[in-house]
Amino acid sequence: MRLSALVVAIAVLAHGVSSQYLWSELIHDQHSSPAYVRQQRTSRPVTDVSSDALQCGDRPLPAHTLQLPAGAKIGFRLKQGRFLPKVIKDLGPVSIYVGLVPTGKSFETWDGSGAQWVKLSEWGPAFHPFTFESYHKHKFTTIFPQPSPDGLYYIRLEQISLEDPGKPMLWVSCAQVNLTNGGDFKPTMHPLPGVYNASDPGLAVNIYHPIPMHYAVPGPMPLVPSNYTVSE
Ligand SMILES: *[C@@H]1O[C@H](CO)[C@@H](O)[C@H](O)[C@H]1NC(C)=O
Ligand SMILES: *[C@@H]1O[C@H](CO)[C@@H](O)[C@H](O)[C@H]1NC(C)=O
Ligand SMILES: *[C@@H]1O[C@H](CO)[C@@H](O)[C@H](O)[C@H]1NC(C)=O
Repeated sequence: MRLSALVVAIAVLAHGVSSQYLWSELIHDQHSSPAYVRQQRTSRPVTDVSSDALQCGDRPLPAHTLQLPAGAKIGFRLKQGRFLPKVIKDLGPVSIYVGLVPTGKSFETWDGSGAQWVKLSEWGPAFHPFTFESYHKHKFTTIFPQPSPDGLYYIRLEQISLEDPGKPMLWVSCAQVNLTNGGDFKPTMHPLPGVYNASDPGLAVNIYHPIPMHYAVPGPMPLVPSNYTVSE
């Protein structure tokens, strides 16, 4: 290989190396555990918002199911490791969704399809200067609303990296819970994939030129009031 070709190859490699974000721990009230999270087999983000991998990643491993009382604090913590980022270093929103397993199905038999997903919370943009609430954070929590019906749910975190304009990277993770002591509130549920379109401004935006003056997090409106959301 000629030197110039080698230099180009190294430059391409260096540019292609981006941070890997693995949301491997579920936070529930004062506890935190990887046992209830469907761990990823690969450390690659989802890049096609119409693929089934948008739900919980690419064929994640099965997990244990946590008995969770409605109204509990829930969230995710970023996996720590020598070669992993300690905090989010990419600009983009973070959201937490829940996916209700349909009656008669289990985590093993439900493929995630149907209008069964609800966005609980989101961490969006900030301005002057333009940034995101999730920047330099590693832990995101909200509450599982008390009136939610009992049942099996995925709790799903989604971190969108907008660093490469027009090519958003989505880092997703699902935990398995069995909700008890809930109520009979029935929010509008959405299909996943289905809530996003690659041409959504919140996904296709170029965050560098021009620097956005406004930005809407893609997907439905969050259900939980924002004063219940915490990030650190
Ligand atoms: C969920 O909790 C209910 C109530 O405690 C229990 O009857 C049911 O077996 C649990 N299901 C799973 C899959 O853990
Ligand atoms: C995405 O948006 C484009 C342009 O508005 C539209 O033609 C297309 O049908 C949409 N796709 C989905 C999956 O909603
Ligand atoms: C959030 O605000 C509502 C009223 O707007 C209040 O009732 C509730 O206690 C607040 N919760 C927290 C955790 O601050």
